[in-house]
Amino acid sequence: MVVRAVVTGTGHYLPERVVENAEFEKTLDTNDEWIRARSGIERRHFAAEGETTSQMATCAARNALKDAGLQPSDIDAIVLATSTADFTFPSAATMVQAELGMENGFAFDVQAVCAGFAYALANANALIISGQARRVLVIGAETFSRIMDWTDRSTCVLFGDGAGALVLEAQDGQGTPADRGILSTDLNSDGRYRDLLYVDGGVSTQSTGVLRMQGNKVFRHAVEKLAKTAEKALEKAGLTPADVDWIVPHQANIRIIQGTAQKMGVPMEKVVVTVQDHGNTSAASIPLALSVGRERGQIKQGDIVVTEAIGGGLAWGAVVIRW
Ligand code: UT7
Repeated sequence: MVVRAVVTGTGHYLPERVVENAEFEKTLDTNDEWIRARSGIERRHFAAEGETTSQMATCAARNALKDAGLQPSDIDAIVLATSTADFTFPSAATMVQAELGMENGFAFDVQAVCAGFAYALANANALIISGQARRVLVIGAETFSRIMDWTDRSTCVLFGDGAGALVLEAQDGQGTPADRGILSTDLNSDGRYRDLLYVDGGVSTQSTGVLRMQGNKVFRHAVEKLAKTAEKALEKAGLTPADVDWIVPHQANIRIIQGTAQKMGVPMEKVVVTVQDHGNTSAASIPLALSVGRERGQIKQGDIVVTEAIGGGLAWGAVVIRW
C-alpha cells in the first residue's frame, strides 16, 4: 500500500475586466491578427486597480474547497505558486490562510515562474506522501499585468491575470499506474538561461522591474524541453504517451502547445486549451486550465492527465495525475 495525493476539488477565479487584442492597437504598433497568429491569444483578464494576487487566490481556493465539499479547517497546508505576491513578505499563501479563516496548518509560496504550478504540485505531493499533511490546497495565482512594460509590444500583449486551485487529499493506493492521484513528477531548471526571461528588478535592486523576454529563444527551448519532461514523467509513472487522456499544458502559446503535443504523438483533441481566453497567466495557467477543463466536461475521474510547463529560470517540469 502507498499513499497517493488525489485531486478532489478544482476551482478558479478570473478578474472581471476582459481586454481584447484590438485594445492594444490603440497604443502599440500591433494588431489582433499578429497576436492571434503568433500566440493564439484573443483576450485576457486584467486585475482591477487594487485587486491582488492573494485576493484572487482566495476566491479560487474557496471554489476548489466548495467543489471538494470541504471547509478551510479541513486543510492542513497551502502551497501557492506565484511570482507576483502582494508583498515581499509575508507569503501570499499565509494571506490566503488568514483570509479563509484558517487557524491551523501551514502555508508557503513557491516561486518557479511559469513552471510554478508543477513545482507546487510536486511539493504538495511530497508533503502528502511523507505524512506531513493529509489535505493540501495547491494554488497558482498571478497579477502579471503589474510587471508589464506597456511600451513593449513583444511581451505586454501575451500575459494575463487569474488564479486556479486544486484540493489534494491523501488516499491509499496500490503503487500501480491504476491508482488515482499524482503518479509522478519531473522537475528541471537551468539557471544559465536567466537572460531569456526575467524581471529586471527586485527587492535587493530596490525596484519592482518589468518582464523582459527573448520570446523566440524561449520558444525553441519550450517545445523540446516540454515534450521531454512530459515523456520522462510518463515513464516514471509506468505509462506512455498512448495512455494519455488529456495534456493540460502551460498556456503560453498555441504553437508551443501544438508542437509539444505533436512531438509526443498526442492529438490536439486530447489537449485542454484556454490560451485564447486567458493569455499567459504564468503559474495560474495550469490550475485555471484544469478547472475550466473540468467545467467543460473534458477531464473525468480515472483519466490520465499530464501537465507540463516552462518559464523563467529556465525552470520546467511535468506532473502525471490519474484524475
Ligand atoms: O510562459 C513563459 C514561457 N514563455 C513562452 O513560452 C513564450 C515563448 N515565445 C513565444 O510565444 C513567441 O516567441 C512570441 C509569441 C513571443 C513571438 O512569436 P515569434 O514567432 O517568435 O516572433 P518573433 O519574436 O521572432 O518576432 C517576429 C516579428 C518581429 O519583427 P521583425 O524583427 O521580424 O521585423 C517582431 O518585432 O514580430 C514582431 N513583433 C510584433 N509585431 C506585431 C513582436 N511582437 C509583435 C506584436 N505585434 N505584438
